[in-house]
Amino acid sequence: MAARVLYLIPSGIIGGAERSLLGLVAALDRERFEPMVCGPDGGPLASVVESLGVPFLSLHLPREVERLSLRGARSSFPDALEAVPGALSLYKAVSSGVRELRLDIIHTNGTKAHVIGAMAGWRQQVPVIWHIRDFVENRVWERSIAALGRAAAVHIIANSSAVAASVEALGLASRMEVIPNGVDLKEFSPEVDGGGLRKELGIPPEACLVGMVGLFASWKGQQEFLRSAAVLHDRCPGLLFLLVGDEVYRTDGHGAFRETLIRQARDHGLGEVVTFTGYRHDVPKVMAALDVVIHASIRPEPFGRVVLEAMAMGRPVVATNAGGVPEVLGTDGGAGLLVPPGDVSALTNAIMRLVRDETLRRSMGAAGRQRAEALFDIRFHAARVAALYERVLAA
Ligand code: UDP
Ligand code: GLC
Repeated sequence: MAARVLYLIPSGIIGGAERSLLGLVAALDRERFEPMVCGPDGGPLASVVESLGVPFLSLHLPREVERLSLRGARSSFPDALEAVPGALSLYKAVSSGVRELRLDIIHTNGTKAHVIGAMAGWRQQVPVIWHIRDFVENRVWERSIAALGRAAAVHIIANSSAVAASVEALGLASRMEVIPNGVDLKEFSPEVDGGGLRKELGIPPEACLVGMVGLFASWKGQQEFLRSAAVLHDRCPGLLFLLVGDEVYRTDGHGAFRETLIRQARDHGLGEVVTFTGYRHDVPKVMAALDVVIHASIRPEPFGRVVLEAMAMGRPVVATNAGGVPEVLGTDGGAGLLVPPGDVSALTNAIMRLVRDETLRRSMGAAGRQRAEALFDIRFHAARVAALYERVLAA
């Protein structure tokens, strides 16, 4: 009989974490595992989950809970206190759902899910797997959550060794495994044609196009990319730039960044050469239209799904060397160039090297594809997670 796995994703947006988890759900062996996804009502998740033929259980996420964020502005004790009643009602709803649906495993994505899932699993005696996709700091909040995890004997998946190291520092090393994300190699493939997208955006087929794909947030490095673009625009006339993404986080501490970027591009005299596409639902086509993909996070990136997607598409990458990114891209320079985070002149020089050398772009793209096939096939990822499920179920 198939084991029932509940995925708890209390996020109103679909970012890299959600995409990675949904990729797993889609690739799971349905003969052996029966997935169900539980997430907030009113968001974009429900329809995506249902399109996978997977039941979606909706949950009302009170605003006090939704806007809590370990990294954002809303992380004070009073903020947390204010969220307690809402969190308790979520816990009750999840806990009774776990019992009624006779679930076998709770797989949580994100801190709020970890807390609620651990409490519900503990209560219902159902094993819990925390999928940790972000660095954990060593502060009172994280230590309290870690204590809950130890008490509830949760198992942990870390998305990179870099993230795992931060989790280990909290005393959660036992029962933890690093399982890197996977990508659908058919969806993200060098065969995808980017011609239509160039046409839509008015970008000539022969123009060299350098782009960054990612949610707009100051730490993702869009401002550094634009500073670099300003220099490149002088040195390599004809070069065009794409900024793909938008500001979508709803936790506090975010806002008005898109306007800042548009102003910055104008101030740098890049009005004619930078295109802001907004949030795109067709990233494979977007990447197919790019000659070089940039990942410019100035803070260590836990994994960097965009880097993996670019590699799978056979696109050369210039990325900042921190967090999980070197694990994804590799450090031998085969699939792309690594530069120090925040170093605009290193970023500029690396981009220039690729812009000027089409042969290098091709060979790096091919190496990236090869690396994605060898290490990051979503089927391989799903098999590793399934093996963990089997061990957890057997214990
Ligand atoms: N993405 C997208 N449309 C956009 C910008 C980004 O679909 O306009 C996707 C992108 O393809 C990737 C994810 O959002 O799958 C971002 O994941 P990543 O791990 O790079 O960063 P995160 O935003 O999760 O920190
Ligand atoms: C989080 C991280 C990102 C990672 C994604 C998938 O969103 O910020 O770096 O790629 O999770 O694991």
